[in-house]
Amino acid sequence: MAKRVIITGVPGVGKTTVIEESMKRLAGENIPYRAINFGSCMFETAKSEGFAEDRDQMRNLDRDVQKDLQKLAARRIGAMEGNIIIDTHASVKTPAGYLPGLPAWVLTEIHPDTVVLVETDEDQILMRRMGDESRRRDAEGCRSIAEHQAFNRAFAASYAMMTGCTVHIVRNENFLLDHAIDALVAVLR
Ligand code: AP5
Repeated sequence: MAKRVIITGVPGVGKTTVIEESMKRLAGENIPYRAINFGSCMFETAKSEGFAEDRDQMRNLDRDVQKDLQKLAARRIGAMEGNIIIDTHASVKTPAGYLPGLPAWVLTEIHPDTVVLVETDEDQILMRRMGDESRRRDAEGCRSIAEHQAFNRAFAASYAMMTGCTVHIVRNENFLLDHAIDALVAVLR
């Protein structure tokens, strides 16, 4: 039976890196997965409607606009078939507070089997963000990143209560990317 696995993690934790490497491993085992970036699906609409010029502007949009973008993206992804990985966020830090990445209207479209939280120590995340000049990351310190990771566990638990999905934590530590790939591939197989 086809699997739908949602992969989350605070910006800069390396979730996209872990997903890309895991997909290569799975392709070698003839296990087909399609990886969908939820933010890219939202951004296609945001850009065409003139709401945002780059993906980092989206979390500062009016929250009702963000919710409408979420709904449209969820509907498109929900209609897809086969094994799917959805690269997204358990929560998004906005000026109005933490916005749930997977509210009821997203979960009912997607019906996830598992929600994965990619985590590592907050000082490692801070250093990765500082090293990435291609993005406009929010300036925040280690304590704030730690709070966001803690909130994400609470959000993931509520998503499991709503849908019956499982929650899995994958650690993506410096110099140990292979361990993170092993852990994610074991969930996806
Ligand atoms: P999104 O596309 O998810 O962007 P992001 O949050 O900035 O995440 P990235 O993909 O840039 O970072 P990453 O954590 O995957 O790290 P990466 O692999 O690049 O979301 C964009 C926007 O869309 C959001 O801001 C939001 O507005 C919106 N959005 C998305 N989903 C939403 C939802 N459900 N509801 C509402 N809005 C939503 O790696 C980072 C760096 O770390 C790299 O330099 C990499 O080389 C390095 N690295 C990775 N692993 C390791 C390791 N093990 N050791 C050392 N370095 C490592």
